[in-house]
Amino acid sequence: MKNIKVVSNPLILRDLTILRDKNTPPQEFRIALDRISYSLVVALSEEFKLIKFDVQTPLEVTDGFKIEKKIVLIPVLRAGLSMVNSFLTLIPEARVGHIGLQRNEVTLEPIDYYYKAPKDLNNSFVIVLDPMLATGGSVIASLNFLKKQGASKIVVASIIAAPEGVKKLADAHSEAFVYTAALDRQLNENGYIIPGLGDAGDRVFGTL
Ligand code: PRP
Ligand code: URA
Repeated sequence: MKNIKVVSNPLILRDLTILRDKNTPPQEFRIALDRISYSLVVALSEEFKLIKFDVQTPLEVTDGFKIEKKIVLIPVLRAGLSMVNSFLTLIPEARVGHIGLQRNEVTLEPIDYYYKAPKDLNNSFVIVLDPMLATGGSVIASLNFLKKQGASKIVVASIIAAPEGVKKLADAHSEAFVYTAALDRQLNENGYIIPGLGDAGDRVFGTL
């Protein structure tokens, strides 16, 4: 699959284990997810183009750099909220929109209930935050909305992706690239990623 980069390092593998463990309580789950998200920010920031300018140190003028495009974060509610803190820590100037989607547990189709994005998406680097890319329905619906709002540069940051969803995303939005910490085996008959970590929203917010 060409539209995905699996970001991995020993810290991510340790933290994925914490997320997968069904006995991990929400407070530890959130912190491990936060730590993985930091690695994802660093990996995807390789795509940011820089503008060079002169900066005056106390001693002389040297090269300074700033990020060319405005960065916009779009967490997909609810579980995507758990990735916002780490992304904003490393990209504090980013603006944040929200997309509210809830998967219908029978049809597995996403039902939308909230959209709010900054206005000038056409000149922005947009990062969709959603820890689980399962059937791909939620991420595809998010990109449909963001493109209608004028976004052209969009990447997806996820914690665990399923091959089925990554392929469906490539078919719907061939230019969309996914950064994830794990590409798991498959979906089960209920549309859950296996081995996965269960329902991300429930585990983050303790609503199991
Ligand atoms: C989960 C997850 C994704 C979606 C992925 O959200 O956070 O948004 O499912 O599944 P998909 O790829 O098959 O669309 P859910 O609908 O459970 O809502 P929640 O975050 O509010 O719990
Ligand atoms: N949503 C989740 O939270 N987990 C899955 O495994 C699939 C969809």
